[in-house]
Amino acid sequence: MNLQVFHKKGSNADAISMLTCYDYSAARILREAPVEAFLVGDSLAMTVYGHPTTLPATVDMMARHTEAVRRGLGADRALVVDLPFLAHRGSLDRVMEAVRTLMVAGADAVKIEGIAGHDETLRHIVQSGVPVMGHLGLMPQSVHLHGGYRVQGKTAEAARSLVEQAHQVQDCGCFALVLECVPAELAANITRELGIPVIGIGAGPEVDGQVLVMQDALGMNLDFSPRFVRRFADTGKSWQQAAREFSDAVRQGRFPDETESF
Ligand code: KIV
Repeated sequence: MNLQVFHKKGSNADAISMLTCYDYSAARILREAPVEAFLVGDSLAMTVYGHPTTLPATVDMMARHTEAVRRGLGADRALVVDLPFLAHRGSLDRVMEAVRTLMVAGADAVKIEGIAGHDETLRHIVQSGVPVMGHLGLMPQSVHLHGGYRVQGKTAEAARSLVEQAHQVQDCGCFALVLECVPAELAANITRELGIPVIGIGAGPEVDGQVLVMQDALGMNLDFSPRFVRRFADTGKSWQQAAREFSDAVRQGRFPDETESF
């Protein structure tokens, strides 16, 4: 029922906002925000653990963070969790165990990158009663195949293939699709063609919703500012400022004062 927020498509006023979230304290803060859905993205391998790609994320890692975020968000906020690198490939038993682990940890749905070669697996997961969000365009788990973090669907052939894959994702029963780093016009066409909501990241404005990595949106990622990110706050700078003030107060004997002492 938390996924009701994805049962709409179309107008700007109804657009779906989604942010990544990886830990309890952030979830506890964001629980009060009107953001409609949260994603424990495998981007945590980069933002939380400092790896250069999402590939080192594991099912156990995703499950621990999912539990923490669910505790912070409460039971009634939509929470989607990434199935990490290669967890949707291999034997069906292994895939279903990974899905089970994430759902038991508190996910409302899993997100799975790509469709080629695992459409039957996607269908099986949906038919098992687990909501699945698709993810096409730039797929960070395929960064080595893409040859880097590049805009996808730029040639006529690549655009045609992306439209076809988007339909396949929908036909498999996915309830929504993330489109990452594709030309705005192509994203708008796919959004018009599909009956399920399309959530964009670097996919222009004519989609049904937008998702951003929390660290990027809140300005915590000081050395990373790609074109598609807007910083809605300067949290990184205000943390540095607060740390400076703390340190000055300690060195100048202004902290703790009487009211902060027993
Ligand atoms: O892992 C992630 O954060 C994502 C978003 C960028 C959509 O997949």
